[in-house]
Amino acid sequence: MAHPDVPVKSVDVNYSKILFWSLAFLFINWIGPLLCGKYADTSFDFVPASDIPSQLIGLIGSSVTHEKWCPHVPTQLDNRIKIPSNFNQSFDIAQVKNYQYKDGAYSPRHCQSRYRIALIVPYRDRLDHLEKFLAYMHPYLMKQQLEYKIIVVEQADKKPFNRGKLLNVGFLEAQKMTKIDCVIFHDVDLLPVNEYNMYACTHMPRHMYSAIDTFRFRLPYRELCGGTIAILARHFNVVNGFSNQFSGWGGEDDDFCKRLAGKQLEIVRFDPAVAVYVMLPHSKTTPDPQRMQHLQSSLARSDVDGLNSAKYEVLSIDILPLYVRLLITL
Ligand code: BGC
Repeated sequence: MAHPDVPVKSVDVNYSKILFWSLAFLFINWIGPLLCGKYADTSFDFVPASDIPSQLIGLIGSSVTHEKWCPHVPTQLDNRIKIPSNFNQSFDIAQVKNYQYKDGAYSPRHCQSRYRIALIVPYRDRLDHLEKFLAYMHPYLMKQQLEYKIIVVEQADKKPFNRGKLLNVGFLEAQKMTKIDCVIFHDVDLLPVNEYNMYACTHMPRHMYSAIDTFRFRLPYRELCGGTIAILARHFNVVNGFSNQFSGWGGEDDDFCKRLAGKQLEIVRFDPAVAVYVMLPHSKTTPDPQRMQHLQSSLARSDVDGLNSAKYEVLSIDILPLYVRLLITL
């Protein structure tokens, strides 16, 4: 009840204005994005954070006694996506150089790593990204107590960038250097934010990001295999690697996803709070005008276009402290 001394003020309520703004709010925040497919990811299946350790495949056939294994890295259960505000300032290449790597490889000194990976990075002309990537990824992977090797496959010729073929070459050449059970293909501009996103393989191929800043922390479509993928070497062989046909931006990852589906290899993804990434800014490269055409014949080509048909020339193999550099012409 109003206080008797306070004059009652009549307020004009403009119901039509309220209705208009409510509808506008609903449209902008919900109906519009829904129509554009922005919420398509609501139907994604993610491995819950607490199940992640049980999904990882450790070193197979190792003779190490149980006591010597490095401890399991715990899984973060806080399910909020968090990006530190100083994220872009945290690249210190000088500090990483002090670690005295010899060949882009590392294994923990005091315990036996549970996971061994080869990280293969397709690359050309992005020194700033490569420096940031190495400065960020080495400490990140060390913290996870992994046995790992970073291999950068650089396209030396001036032809359009062929990401799929470079990844095939990286895989074929890496096998000549080291034993590979698990390989992670990784773009140079992607950085994992959450240190609990384990860089190890799962029983099925894993698309490593479930949330990324450039897509407003959502995934645009279910069959997305872009950016970074962790896969057992035997599965990569089963699908005959990537297609070599896609030159220029786009499509090779969609084609790869089709190959996996064709062999009943179902993509898995971790909880978005764990599998969260940021992308270093860059200008977009020219899309491959033929990518849609190639995508129509993905499965028909997969047995004859891939690892078994990749023609290339190795110009040099440089064993650098922070990575092995393969200089290739395609
Ligand atoms: C392209 C993919 C790319 C995806 C997300 C698709 O249109 O074909 O190569 O990963 O968009 O950017």
